[in-house]
Amino acid sequence: MNKEKKITKTTAVSPANIAFIKYWGKKDAKVNIPFNNSISMNLSDCSTKTTVEFSRKYRSDKVFIDGNEAQGEKKERVVEILNIVRKKAGLSQKARVVSENNFPADAGIASSASAFSALALATSRAAGMELSLKELSILSRLGSGSAARSVVDGFAEWKKGKNSQTSYTVQLAPPSYWDLRDIVVVVAKEKKKASSTEGHSAALTSPHYKTRQSELKRRIKGLRNALLEKQFKKFGELLEEEAISLHMIAMTSKPPIYYWNKGTVEVIHKLLELREEGLFAYFTIDAGPNVHVICRACDSNKLNKRLKKLPGVFFTIVNKPSTGTRLAEKHLF
Ligand code: DP6
Repeated sequence: MNKEKKITKTTAVSPANIAFIKYWGKKDAKVNIPFNNSISMNLSDCSTKTTVEFSRKYRSDKVFIDGNEAQGEKKERVVEILNIVRKKAGLSQKARVVSENNFPADAGIASSASAFSALALATSRAAGMELSLKELSILSRLGSGSAARSVVDGFAEWKKGKNSQTSYTVQLAPPSYWDLRDIVVVVAKEKKKASSTEGHSAALTSPHYKTRQSELKRRIKGLRNALLEKQFKKFGELLEEEAISLHMIAMTSKPPIYYWNKGTVEVIHKLLELREEGLFAYFTIDAGPNVHVICRACDSNKLNKRLKKLPGVFFTIVNKPSTGTRLAEKHLF
């Protein structure tokens, strides 16, 4: 059969995810193999939609993100995925890639997880390939490590594996399993100081990196069990322990990376104060200043109102557990 006949314009949507156990430090930076497993929840209200078309009518690959043509390193990372898929599918056509985030580009929310998982599904299908979930997770991972986790529904664990073929994500529980909320509290709109890719390589220069790795076995097991048993307090305590561990590594890397700002600390203190009042929510923080406040659905409105009032807060985005990467009918071009 002529493979080229099957190629067709394809659109995919994919959620960002929040890591409860973090990917921080790469064992193999070329193909994004992590030092440890990570655990996450997909986010309902932070997603990327991407349309891909391979065609003879295109003379070169072109990539548009939120209305602007991507250049340099940003474009190269996308073209790398196009090349991998072209090679596998035996295609030579150039491609057009158009991508839109449904959350504000200036919110400092990591979009590489949603972006590369949407790209992986749209590109592979546009080239006429039907990947299994495992293969899709692996292809997404090659674009950005955390994207490996966005492909499954709900709660996910990325198994570090031993090589590129064994490092992929499995589902821990479906979205309906636990009615948690992630209130993303945006306290900075500017681009973050150090990209997560820079942070990953700096991590290994911290004298505490080994300690983090030795603690993780217990923490991963504890958090996975707390999640599966829905033990919110235990879950929250391990969540915060893990977030602090990542930032301790970042702050003790050489040179150090300080991701937090005044607003970050303000939110943490507010959560401690609210706990005194009996309102329980816990924080986690990725490679930036914004805080993800994890709470039970029944507390989310009350918490959101209180957090939005803080002087350092620009806005919040309330997320439910979401389905993973999927196809969409409406194309972007
Ligand atoms: C702090 O997946 O963005 O969000 O593989 O270099 O693209 P690359 O890194 P990326 O790292 C995410 C780091 C993190 C923690 C996490 O999501 O696990």
